[in-house]
Amino acid sequence: MKELEIQYLNKLILETSGVLLTKEKAYLLEARLQPVLQKYNLHNFTELVGSLQKTKDTNLKRDVVEALMTNETLFFRDLNPFEQFTNILLPYLLKARESTKHIRIWSAGCSTGQEPYSLSMAILEQQQKYPDWKFEIFATDISTSAIEKAIAGSYSQFEVQRGLPINHLIKYMQKEDQKWIVKDNVKNLVKFQYFNLLENPILLGKFDIIFCRNVLIYFDIDIKQKILSYFSQTLKPDGFLILGGSESTFGISDYYAPKENAKSIYILKQHENQKKLASS
Ligand SMILES: C[S@@+](CC[C@H](N)C(=O)[O-])C[C@H]1O[C@@H](n2cnc3c(N)ncnc32)[C@H](O)[C@@H]1O
Repeated sequence: MKELEIQYLNKLILETSGVLLTKEKAYLLEARLQPVLQKYNLHNFTELVGSLQKTKDTNLKRDVVEALMTNETLFFRDLNPFEQFTNILLPYLLKARESTKHIRIWSAGCSTGQEPYSLSMAILEQQQKYPDWKFEIFATDISTSAIEKAIAGSYSQFEVQRGLPINHLIKYMQKEDQKWIVKDNVKNLVKFQYFNLLENPILLGKFDIIFCRNVLIYFDIDIKQKILSYFSQTLKPDGFLILGGSESTFGISDYYAPKENAKSIYILKQHENQKKLASS
């Protein structure tokens, strides 16, 4: 691929998704885009870039962007965030939301669904104690093919072996031919939707918890700031933001403070200050 073509594709990906392709990723461009060439009967990358520049067909652009996203995910990824969800965040919210009995969670950048389904299973493990509560997991991604797979909830043996405890596999999945399918009670708590994190999420409503794990790492600092600012407007004042293990708000956004005695959990500073004022 020619240098100018690489630059054009990098710019397209950056403007559309915010994702900054690293030098190593540039090597992957050709391999990842090969299936797109085949799908659109294009002979080489010069033709691909030419078509992208000429066409108004949004499908080609969407397919190129999706081919270059990193959708790596697994069930109960890193385990600790899900343990903290069950042991710290849920107990807090079950008290704090007693009057509405309604908890809303956003899995932002949910990829093929393993994260929101893990959350749904973690909730179902507790739900018999709270039968009259409403739990909603709103799961979004920029990749429509990832969302389609997530909605189908159909995973290979290899995929379920990555992180899903055997008792959860038996309890929450059913085997159909060579695939494991997520059962309806797990699916029912989750609503999947396409959403680009570069857009203002105001219309999605307010959330008690936002999981946005292993997504911000792909953005440069300006975009991280923009997304963290959007999240601060979308979180309820006493809500929680959960980031990936290698991500932090430190040095990027002033809206958040790390939650004490917790890992990768952030609270809104404004709320923290109000609490301090109230107790002084
Ligand atoms: C590595 S996966 C993380 C999946 C999951 N959160 C986890 O930690 O296992 C990153 C996801 O972010 C999505 N993504 C990247 N840019 C995005 C954007 N601008 N808006 C929404 N999703 C985006 C990608 O499509 C991909 O599915």
